[in-house]
Amino acid sequence: MVNQAQNLSPQLMMYRESLSNLPDLNIPQGYELRSFCPGDEKWWERIINVTFQYQSDFKKEILMQQQFKPERIKFICCNNIPIATATAWEKDDYGKEIGYLHMVGVLPEHSGKKLGYYVSLAALYQMAKEGKKSAVLHTDDFRIPAIKTYWNLGFKPVLVHENQIERWKNISLILNMPEIFEKLTKNMVM
Ligand SMILES: CC(C)(COP(=O)(O)OP(=O)(O)OC[C@H]1O[C@@H](n2cnc3c(N)ncnc32)[C@H](O)[C@@H]1OP(=O)(O)O)[C@@H](O)C(=O)NCCC(=O)NCCS
Repeated sequence: MVNQAQNLSPQLMMYRESLSNLPDLNIPQGYELRSFCPGDEKWWERIINVTFQYQSDFKKEILMQQQFKPERIKFICCNNIPIATATAWEKDDYGKEIGYLHMVGVLPEHSGKKLGYYVSLAALYQMAKEGKKSAVLHTDDFRIPAIKTYWNLGFKPVLVHENQIERWKNISLILNMPEIFEKLTKNMVM
């Protein structure tokens, strides 16, 4: 089993080669989707602090970054309070045509309802709206619910270091999904 303390490096990468065929976005009953509004900083930090277990700073990590646009920060709300988030980011490393799925979290009291899937999907729709062609993300071996969520969204694993062959094999075993390991490719052009 992979635990958080192992802190395996480099991070795992997953890639969705097209944003032209996204599945329907059906937010579960009782929840609403929206983008960032002023005042949401504290809600974003609450979600990230709890789910990533560090002291986040929306201003430093998101607001002050040149990529920031309110519509890139997606929230799923319950009674208008954000309880899940994902960000449609970009990174210089990947250029303007490839979106970067960033900072995905769902408060534990709302987990198990695929809200991570839907809030990430909303971020992918945002990327597509901006004209991006594909999407990439980084994750960690111990983030099994996240990896399953990204797989369900059509992301496939990309090998960025030889040590990840064993790591992806292990994740496939944990999820009992040999197809994940079978889809492991060496680069983002598939
Ligand atoms: C990732 C995250 C947003 C997903 O939240 P969620 O949408 O409530 O996730 P769910 O509980 O619905 O689980 C997602 C999937 O993982 C599966 N899963 C969850 N735990 C699992 C486990 N231990 N073993 C196997 N599968 C598991 C679920 O069955 C579900 O798959 P399915 O939809 O095909 O049935 C949430 O777990 C989270 O906030 N994690 C901490 C922050 C994080 O790791 N973010 C990602 C950074 S890259």
